[in-house]
Amino acid sequence: MKALILAGGKGTRLRPITFSMAKQLVPVANKPVIEYGIESIVNAGIRDFGIIVGDTAKEVEAALGDGSRWGARFTFIPQPEPLGLAHAVATAKDYLGDEEFIMYLGDNLIKTDVGEFVREFERHRPAATILLTPVPNPSEFGVAEMDGERVVRLEEKPKEPKSNLALVGVYLFDKRIHESISRLKPSWRGEYEITDAIQGLIEAGCEVRSHVVRGWWKDTGTVEAMLEANRLILEDLEPRIEADVDAESRIEGRVTLGEGTVVEGSTIRGPVAIGKGCSIVGSYVGPFTSIADNVQLVGTEIENSIVLQDSRLSRVPSRIEGSLIGRGVTVVCQGRVPRSIQIVMGDSGSLSLP
Ligand code: G1P
Repeated sequence: MKALILAGGKGTRLRPITFSMAKQLVPVANKPVIEYGIESIVNAGIRDFGIIVGDTAKEVEAALGDGSRWGARFTFIPQPEPLGLAHAVATAKDYLGDEEFIMYLGDNLIKTDVGEFVREFERHRPAATILLTPVPNPSEFGVAEMDGERVVRLEEKPKEPKSNLALVGVYLFDKRIHESISRLKPSWRGEYEITDAIQGLIEAGCEVRSHVVRGWWKDTGTVEAMLEANRLILEDLEPRIEADVDAESRIEGRVTLGEGTVVEGSTIRGPVAIGKGCSIVGSYVGPFTSIADNVQLVGTEIENSIVLQDSRLSRVPSRIEGSLIGRGVTVVCQGRVPRSIQIVMGDSGSLSLP
């Protein structure tokens, strides 16, 4: 079996972070979101990856390399225009040949290991296996109509959804999907929909299996959604301390501290992930916080937040909560009078003061 990872798209839902970063590279618990899918597929024993890239091809290729980091072989396949998921599969047709493949949308995150679905697919040999999950807003996804365990019908972004079961961005296919794709017409949004291609398989009498999974995230584009993804991953964090922690500091619960990080006179209460080369001085880092590499925290309290690399937070007078802080950001309290504030912020930023 091969893997097909989709890593194109513009990431408009995740602005401002995606103004300067491909959406699949946005870090969740200090690791690009796409790497969770790659690891899960490698763990399932798959080594050959086709990676569909678009406008952000250079950045994605530079971040992932040739796959040797995972003992895998990556082939980057440019999709000339973003014409939909089924179009991406058609673009990869030569690469995929007649092989079975797992398709994984690089902006999706599922907690379940894909290994069990791969093994089940190989045992039963259906035309497709889809993953489903209950959502409060099914109209924003592909939706499955079920009759017991059986998938009766799939509809992309239905106005009147027949169930609350959304298609998760992980699919397994055999070569029959290519024929179904070749019969597709563009949808109302002008895209060749993989949902319609799977519906075509059902209509042709092919077997389509499904599984309901829990613990799923996709780039819904709010700060709250990113914090939710962060919590999803941090809940299972394996503690690992590679940092220098002084006697005045307290590390509680599940915490990872990367190499070259220094912790002085601080309390860190997990689950918390802190990267390499950080300096945490006289600070408090509370549950569900991820701090990327080379961040400086001085006299600052923070929890339930994400801080990306190279940022500096110093003597912030209130606890920072529910925040998403980009790369190379500086927040400093000078303690000077008059107590004015100076703001230099990029596009689409937001600052909320008490
Ligand atoms: C795509 C699929 C949709 C699926 C979703 C999962 O939607 O078309 O069926 O539920 O991915 O992430 P899109 O991201 O193109 O809106």
